Amino acid sequence: MKNLLQEADNLVFMQSLPEASCDLIYVDPPFWTGKQRTSARSPNGYDDRWPDDIADYLAFMEPRLKEMHRLLSERGSLYVHLDWRAVHYVKVLLDRIFGRENFLNEIIWAYRTGGVGKRWFSRKHDTILLYARHAGRHIFNAQREGEFRTDGLKQDENGRLYKSTKKGRLYFHADGPTMTDVWDIPFLSTVSLERTGYPSQKPLALLERIIRASSNPGDVVADFFCGSGTTLVAAAKLNRRWIGCDRGEEACDIARKRLAELQTKANA
Ligand SMILES: C[S@@+](CC[C@H](N)C(=O)[O-])C[C@H]1O[C@@H](n2cnc3c(N)ncnc32)[C@H](O)[C@@H]1O
Repeated sequence: MKNLLQEADNLVFMQSLPEASCDLIYVDPPFWTGKQRTSARSPNGYDDRWPDDIADYLAFMEPRLKEMHRLLSERGSLYVHLDWRAVHYVKVLLDRIFGRENFLNEIIWAYRTGGVGKRWFSRKHDTILLYARHAGRHIFNAQREGEFRTDGLKQDENGRLYKSTKKGRLYFHADGPTMTDVWDIPFLSTVSLERTGYPSQKPLALLERIIRASSNPGDVVADFFCGSGTTLVAAAKLNRRWIGCDRGEEACDIARKRLAELQTKANA
């Protein structure tokens, strides 16, 4: 499969792709905010208004999530990025489509942005649901970050830290502890150089982490709500093949520009 960015409704587009053609799918759909999401750079932005209640939103999501299930390869995974508004409803839907046994993680992406809650705790996290096409056969490269607590540890003759246990020396991995399901990644600030001006753009660091964990070089990474193309740029940087789709002209223009800039840098 060649790299591809399609301006289209994602349901029609996904139906045109062959079964099991994607190794990793990440999607960041509208969050059911009830608002038109716009910005100066993208005056049309995208529509997140729904005629009635959550049922309309779920009726939109269900056939699309079913297509994603069909498109995943045997070793593939799906990440669905949402927040407190719709995530619990979509979890129930995904359990039905994927089977509860294939649910791997509820990832909490915690961040600090402006705006504080005065009548409830400030809402400062998104939730990313992770499902495998077949749990156990899925690709997973454990990631590491941070540092172990080193107080009370001993040092061996080569300076490596260890703890004495009944079974002998317990060594600590040089790259730190394995990552948990709570991720502390900064939100894109209003002045970030990475910012394209597209509403709801996600940080590259978030997508790079997901792609490293759930795919290998050469694999096909897809995002069918790709917006400004963050997933596609992260995939290209990490030598994965990519497929993107968005129904917005402004989104696709920005994504194409970002991908072209990356290519220019690579050729320089
Ligand atoms: C939250 S934004 C994605 C932002 C993206 N993750 C980024 O980093 O820029 C959601 C995107 O879904 C797109 N979208 C909504 N419904 C769609 C549909 N039926 N087909 C294709 N794209 C759709 C919108 O145009 C919007 O760009």
